[in-house]
Amino acid sequence: MTDSDFLTRDFLTRTRVFYDAIAEDYAERFRDSLAQTPVERATFGLFAELVGRGGAVADLGCGPGRVTGLLASLGLDVFGLDLSSSMLEIARRENPDLLFVQGSMLELDVADGSLAGAVSWYSSIHTPVDELPSLFREFRRVLAPGGHLLLGFQVGDEPKRHDRPWGHDVVLDFQRRQPGMIGGLLETAGFELVSQTVRAPQNEEQVAQAFLIARA
Ligand SMILES: C[S@@+](CC[C@H](N)C(=O)[O-])C[C@H]1O[C@@H](n2cnc3c(N)ncnc32)[C@H](O)[C@@H]1O
Repeated sequence: MTDSDFLTRDFLTRTRVFYDAIAEDYAERFRDSLAQTPVERATFGLFAELVGRGGAVADLGCGPGRVTGLLASLGLDVFGLDLSSSMLEIARRENPDLLFVQGSMLELDVADGSLAGAVSWYSSIHTPVDELPSLFREFRRVLAPGGHLLLGFQVGDEPKRHDRPWGHDVVLDFQRRQPGMIGGLLETAGFELVSQTVRAPQNEEQVAQAFLIARA
């Protein structure tokens, strides 16, 4: 597979181009942000406890690898996957002991039932709504029975357009979604909902944030 064979749909190419352009600025902006968000850290702690030790965990849409590194520090055997080669370069630089691979989470090169856990932390927000059922079926396929999925996303009904972030000549829509709609799609894909956390907006955030954990 070349480094673009997985770009099977236009929205994947647009997403990759966007994140390749902003990777260094994004990494700098969000490098330490998890240190200021106790609800997120509690959510990752709960996820790590539910997954337990011993099974492989995938951080899908890992970006610069800040969540991958946090999950590894919680004792999980985690690797990262992303579309963007610039994001992966940073993830490898900042987490030299961890594995990062390029690909699309819509078509994972991972055997059926082989993962104990999967995380999609603000990475499903660029997948069109009509592609979400197949994305969640793919997550269900790679998880072992009893394995856990963690999703993070912004709450809302309208997308937010990021136009020329940090002055880069790119634009991309970030979809906000209702936790009930996402939970329903996860159940349709064969998941059982374990927990749903909705955190109020903080600092410069405009909307609430949702964190869902589901069991395969
Ligand atoms: C908002 S960033 C979040 C990155 C990281 N999870 C974090 O919290 O720092 C979204 C990331 O998801 C990746 N992404 C989006 N769609 C993807 C897909 N279909 N397959 C793999 N990665 C994807 C993007 O390239 C980008 O790095």
